[in-house]
Amino acid sequence: MCDNAAMASLEKDAPAGGAAATPLALNFCGLKFASPIVLLSGCVGFGEEYTRIEGFSNRDAGAVVLKGTTGAARLGNPPHRVYETPAGMLNAIGLQNPGVDHVVRVILPQLDFTETRFIANVSGSTIEEYVEVTRRFDASPIDAIEINISCPNVKEGGVAFGNYPDMSAQVVAACRRVTKKPLITKLSPNQTDIRENARRCIEAGTDALAVINTIMGMAIDVAERRPVIGNVQGGLSGPAIKPIALLKVHQVYEVAGPHRIPIIGQGGITTAHDALEFIIAGATAVGIGTALFYDPLVCRRINEGVAVYLAAQGLANVTELVGTLRTAKDVADCALSG
Ligand SMILES: Cc1cc2nc3c(=O)[nH]c(=O)nc-3n(C[C@H](O)[C@H](O)[C@H](O)COP(=O)(O)O)c2cc1C
Repeated sequence: MCDNAAMASLEKDAPAGGAAATPLALNFCGLKFASPIVLLSGCVGFGEEYTRIEGFSNRDAGAVVLKGTTGAARLGNPPHRVYETPAGMLNAIGLQNPGVDHVVRVILPQLDFTETRFIANVSGSTIEEYVEVTRRFDASPIDAIEINISCPNVKEGGVAFGNYPDMSAQVVAACRRVTKKPLITKLSPNQTDIRENARRCIEAGTDALAVINTIMGMAIDVAERRPVIGNVQGGLSGPAIKPIALLKVHQVYEVAGPHRIPIIGQGGITTAHDALEFIIAGATAVGIGTALFYDPLVCRRINEGVAVYLAAQGLANVTELVGTLRTAKDVADCALSG
């Protein structure tokens, strides 16, 4: 495998104008992705936000995930909603969105489905709300539906659905019953055993897994002695979480791989080297979120770097690299760090 310096030189030496389509193209739950890159929910608005930036194209991504959508419109949390941390970012947007009716009736017709695949991101406070939103998207042109099970369950006192395998499986099973579109479940890292949760979501009928959502954190304004984030806590994203996300993908792949359930690996990916690590760990596709905030053109560089690596390794297609990590299992399972 390449080291960082070698990868940087691969990115620099890559041909201009984007990588050849074929080595990067893949089939994801029956959908044709032109690239393994997936633009992540909450980081690209409703698919139109970055298209105003010169040089940016949705075509550089295999798929674009829309902002989390709920049954009714939500205004979101009080400010501050985002805060930069060392190598990362805290956010507590609070699922600001115009509601599923507006998304389906007004936003989806404006999207150009020839550019890329568009994936809805479904959120809810109750299982009934998840089902209602999923059903609306099922009757829309959207290509796939991702369910964000990190939301607080109001009936269970605000604990997140995704932190408990039982509750995760209930949401997945309920949504599965109302859609035949590819169903992706986005797993929370804020739980004891992500493998068990992945297993239960697969049994409940998910077609794919997204690993991972943000990791809860906080920051304090010491002058004011107040939390910086209006919601007190927020989700940490960006390079700070990459090693954690990578391990979670590796663990989930152990469960999902034998069932041929593909994974969208995500959490802090900013370079082709990062993307390759996730693919080798078991991700079929790789999500880019926070990196877009400071480099909206990052996808093209990552596509080019991955294509150069594949050529150098004599691999005809990126899927040949998925889950090719060489490891002694007893070493990987050792919980000791020192
Ligand atoms: C500002 C912001 C808003 C987000 N909103 C959502 C959301 O609505 N639904 C969701 O499933 N994930 C949401 N996420 C999580 C991202 O989709 C992604 O899983 C996470 O940020 C990790 O990837 P990254 O480190 O590349 O950003 C959001 C992340 C950020 C930074």
